[in-house]
Amino acid sequence: MEKFKARINLFLLVIVLSLLSLAAEAQRPNYLDHNCPNTTTFSINSTYQANRDALLSLLSSNGTRGDGFYNTTSGSGADMVYGLFLCRGDLSTSVCQACVTFAADDISQRCPVEITAVIWYDECLLRYSNQSIFSSVAEEPGILMVSTQNINDQVRFNRQLQATMDDTVTEAANTSRGAKKFAIREANFSSFQNLYTLAQCTPDLSSMDCDRCLQFAMGNLPGGNQGGRVLTPSCNVRYETYRFYNQTAVAPPPPPPAPASGGNSRRTWRTIVVVVVPIVVSILLLFFTCWLLKRRASKKYDHVQSENGKGHHD
Ligand SMILES: *[C@@H]1O[C@H](CO)[C@@H](O)[C@H](O)[C@H]1NC(C)=O
Ligand SMILES: *[C@@H]1O[C@H](CO)[C@@H](O)[C@H](O)[C@H]1NC(C)=O
Ligand SMILES: *[C@@H]1O[C@H](CO)[C@@H](O)[C@H](O)[C@H]1NC(C)=O
Ligand SMILES: *[C@@H]1O[C@H](CO)[C@@H](O)[C@H](O)[C@H]1NC(C)=O
Ligand SMILES: *[C@@H]1O[C@H](CO)[C@@H](O)[C@H](O)[C@H]1NC(C)=O
Ligand SMILES: *[C@@H]1O[C@H](CO)[C@@H](O)[C@H](O)[C@H]1NC(C)=O
Ligand SMILES: *[C@@H]1O[C@H](CO)[C@@H](O)[C@H](O)[C@H]1NC(C)=O
Ligand SMILES: *[C@@H]1O[C@H](CO)[C@@H](O)[C@H](O)[C@H]1NC(C)=O
Repeated sequence: MEKFKARINLFLLVIVLSLLSLAAEAQRPNYLDHNCPNTTTFSINSTYQANRDALLSLLSSNGTRGDGFYNTTSGSGADMVYGLFLCRGDLSTSVCQACVTFAADDISQRCPVEITAVIWYDECLLRYSNQSIFSSVAEEPGILMVSTQNINDQVRFNRQLQATMDDTVTEAANTSRGAKKFAIREANFSSFQNLYTLAQCTPDLSSMDCDRCLQFAMGNLPGGNQGGRVLTPSCNVRYETYRFYNQTAVAPPPPPPAPASGGNSRRTWRTIVVVVVPIVVSILLLFFTCWLLKRRASKKYDHVQSENGKGHHD
């Protein structure tokens, strides 16, 4: 009985720990990819490194910028470093700040000696270079990510995706240089499946450059999957069959409003999964342990019986 109580306490501990780790994970941005060619590197303790590190802390300390974008430089002459960050347009300044701070540290670990680097997360991107990267469009390096889940009725889905993404891209690019370039859209694909799209450029681009970059990104989306993204240093596009952005945080909501019940039930379902799964797993483990203990008891019994009956076994 004592043993059993100890086990229950252990399970409570497991539950608490798994909830805590989930909470910690919520703070941590979701890493997607990074790129820093090792063909051009700087030497350890060089001026360039000092400038790079200073730049990263400048970006980090300006992560609270309300518009989710910031560009700055560090150093001068040949050792000058240009850097910027861009947060996803629907995120709060605190989420943006957390992502940029994390990214600044992460990128210096993943790219310790590389002269140019870019890193992408769900929540933000951060990049730096020894060449001016401001107000000019960079489509390379590009990253393509697709969901492993296929979609039924691909032809119709791709047609809808194309149309919705076209609108999203047009809206995102349709602001002057310096203004936020971010748009989301949604469309219902079937009575039980919706399509959610997002397009974003760094605001330092002209409308034309943003459009060019987004057309390039959109053109590289393969379609046929339940989700896909193309990430470039200057812009990115994404689509999913679930709402992956915070719609209420985006100033003018997109024209076709979703049936509220759909969104709510989705959210409820998600919350349930996140909170309940660890508990359910723990309870299942508890039952499993009880079953094992019982089995061990009955096995002992079997063993004794076989010893008495058929003689030695194993
Ligand atoms: C550069 O990266 C490539 C591939 O990741 C690796 O094979 C190569 O050894 C690296 N070169 C240096 C100098 O680190
Ligand atoms: C770089 O500087 C640090 C601290 O000043 C020093 O400990 C380290 O040995 C230096 N590394 C190189 C490669 O010069
Ligand atoms: C932001 O960057 C500027 C320089 O670009 C710097 O002076 C400032 O300390 C940084 N941090 C904040 C919080 O403004
Ligand atoms: C940010 O980029 C713009 C050009 O897009 C430039 O005029 C401005 O000086 C840059 N800001 C900093 C702090 O370097
Ligand atoms: C950036 O670094 C590369 C590699 O060292 C060099 O070839 C290039 O000239 C540098 N560009 C600038 C603008 O300093
Ligand atoms: C671009 O935005 C302006 C107003 O901000 C609007 O009048 C115009 O129709 C938009 N163009 C497109 C192609 O959406
Ligand atoms: C999308 O929603 C509207 C209104 O709810 C409905 O009339 C239409 O049939 C739906 N389209 C599809 C493809 O399910
Ligand atoms: C969505 O954005 C709104 C408005 O900025 C904010 O109040 C809400 O907490 C956000 N929700 C999530 C889940 O981030």
